[in-house]
Amino acid sequence: MDTQMLKQKFSEIFAAPKQARLFCAPARVNLIGEHTDYNGGHVFPCALTFNTYVAAAKRNDGKIRLYSLNFEETGMAETDTTRIVRDSARTWANYPLGVFWALLQRKLPVHHGADMLFWGDVPLGAGLSSSASIELATAAALNALFGFGLPQTELAKIGQEAENQFVGMNCGIMDQFASAMGKKDHAILLDCQTLQYQYAPLNLHGISILICNTNKPHNLIESKYNERRAQSEHALKQLQSKLDISSLGDLTEEMFEQNKMLITDPAERKRAKHAVYENRRTLLAAQKLAQGDLQAFGKLMNASHISLRDDYEVTGPELDAMAAAAWKQSGVLGARMTGGGFGGCAVALVKNEAVETFKRNVAREYEAATGYKPDFYIASAGDGARELKD
Ligand code: GLA
Repeated sequence: MDTQMLKQKFSEIFAAPKQARLFCAPARVNLIGEHTDYNGGHVFPCALTFNTYVAAAKRNDGKIRLYSLNFEETGMAETDTTRIVRDSARTWANYPLGVFWALLQRKLPVHHGADMLFWGDVPLGAGLSSSASIELATAAALNALFGFGLPQTELAKIGQEAENQFVGMNCGIMDQFASAMGKKDHAILLDCQTLQYQYAPLNLHGISILICNTNKPHNLIESKYNERRAQSEHALKQLQSKLDISSLGDLTEEMFEQNKMLITDPAERKRAKHAVYENRRTLLAAQKLAQGDLQAFGKLMNASHISLRDDYEVTGPELDAMAAAAWKQSGVLGARMTGGGFGGCAVALVKNEAVETFKRNVAREYEAATGYKPDFYIASAGDGARELKD
């Protein structure tokens, strides 16, 4: 679908004489730093060139009309800015509605309403943040249409508020931040405690970032994710009985080892261990990338997967089978699950000349182990949420 077509569809679907403006926001892949964002640690994602696009126009009667060409079966979602309620059938429309809601919570006047037509090429439910890309496309559109002049980082926070408080998924800031702040050919090293960030050039020297989709829907993610988050928070509370820290991200491995017995529940102790060690791995990985040491980067990715499997316990048989198949291939520097887990995608660093054989072998082994056929995408790092001008 090209952007002119989207505008054309907009006029047809909304029977609107007004010209729509076009916006887009990307999906993301996280290279390392998983389940560290809400634990006050670092993450290292990059925005992708998969995007959610939206054609949007302001109204002046307080109506919100939302339509997605990816979910035509759900039809038009129509409501009023004075009556924004979450749809318990959990349709895609909760994400843009959540953004309207979050803007209104901040007393930002979106009460004139808007018509919005969505279309995206982001693989859905694959753990590549299709939801954050819908939120950020909506936020970028409303920011421009209503002339709020909010900086991109605020749009990220608004997306997170929508997801936490309206949709009910207690996510951290990583996905929305990556979607808002992505930069072509760069990853983003983000300190999730301070929101300070640095762009890291992706100089990969003949190596591809390959995303491996397990095609296992990760529909249980919400409850298990919220549970992991609660366990980490409880572990932090117990550590705080002795240590003056504000998050697990404040701990070195040594401090953790010396104090871990303050955490009484063994499962919670493992969750905290992952958060602390993964944060350190992420900082180290960013250094290794800057030094061009992709072998070391790959090893840190492998260690990250193992920690997510054994200590954080968010991988599951499909992601483990994918990683195990990937690790065996020649030309692979490292592989790990990416995103929330329990299905979704893995990410691997693979030498360019080995990519085709990798895909063939991993597809065969993974399918034999799980019964699912995988998909593979070469990741290219793209720009963050923005308006598309003709
Ligand atoms: C999901 C959440 C993020 C982050 C990852 C795990 O993608 O939306 O905030 O916590 O899981 O790293």
